[in-house]
Amino acid sequence: MAKPRVVVARRMPREVEARVREDYDTWFPAGPPPSPLAMVGAAKEHKADAVTIATNLKLSADIIEALPKHVKIVASFGVGFDHIDVAAAKAKGLIVTNTPDVLTDCTADLAFLLILGASRRAGEYEALMRKGWREALGDRLGVKVSGKTLGIVGLGRIGRAVAQRARGFGMKVLYTDLARLPGELEQGATFVPRLQDLLRQSDIVTLHAPLTDATRKLMDKDAFAAMPAGSVFVNAARGGLVDEDALHDALKSGHLFAAGLDVFASEPEYDLRFRDLPNTFLMPHAGSATQETRNAMGFRVLDNVDAVLSGRPPIDPLWS
Ligand code: 8YV
Repeated sequence: MAKPRVVVARRMPREVEARVREDYDTWFPAGPPPSPLAMVGAAKEHKADAVTIATNLKLSADIIEALPKHVKIVASFGVGFDHIDVAAAKAKGLIVTNTPDVLTDCTADLAFLLILGASRRAGEYEALMRKGWREALGDRLGVKVSGKTLGIVGLGRIGRAVAQRARGFGMKVLYTDLARLPGELEQGATFVPRLQDLLRQSDIVTLHAPLTDATRKLMDKDAFAAMPAGSVFVNAARGGLVDEDALHDALKSGHLFAAGLDVFASEPEYDLRFRDLPNTFLMPHAGSATQETRNAMGFRVLDNVDAVLSGRPPIDPLWS
């Protein structure tokens, strides 16, 4: 029997690609990653039953519309789905899946790396060592993390995993979300209904909210002004949650002590003004970037494709 046909529009880890090549009749990009339109072209030409993408391939309404009917599922490598027009996919009857759970720990680990790195000036100190450390630190001191108040914006899976790590550091955890969570999920964290109040009360703020029309540029000039002088801001969620001009101003003026950033409004061509500030600790969108987690994400993509192409329901549908 002929194997089902899969277009792999974004490269995945080697072991994942080995499995997809084994199980399916595959199409892989010969050169640079295809544009959304080129992906549609490949899906048509290859007569694909499934397409796999990642968070850097925008699935807009017109692209969804242009996808041939024989594509039953688009499986996205990543948990966030702000790159997908869910309403258009629903209307077309296309199944779309993501990869929740498997990247929760690594993303929370990286958020904590940002908290520590920004607060303890790890970027500056590391650069100093590479230059050849020969003089005392003097006043170039960090701020303490243990025992401080951490404000978490969005207590979903990743936010809760960050809270769990914060408890190990003896931190007081505040959170804001659309509604209060049940006690077994709060695990002692305190619900603060209004974002402005959470910002005012936190020494360190970390974002773990999805990017939607309602959350775009959630962190604007007023939000940064509400954070106490000398506080630390961390973002390992989405760059679009932040007004980057406002963040830049808050860092440059010294109102914020530092920021730890893994995500940017534009990627990979991020705003180089953040590189030029001494009080930023920067990562290249690496929350899920471990061998174990990227493999698990890729296998989850294929598990979803397997399910749908063998007539079973998807494991991680974006809606049900
Ligand atoms: C990316 C992410 O998916 O899961 C997400 O939402 O942002 C990341 O894990 C990853 O960079 C692969 O595209």
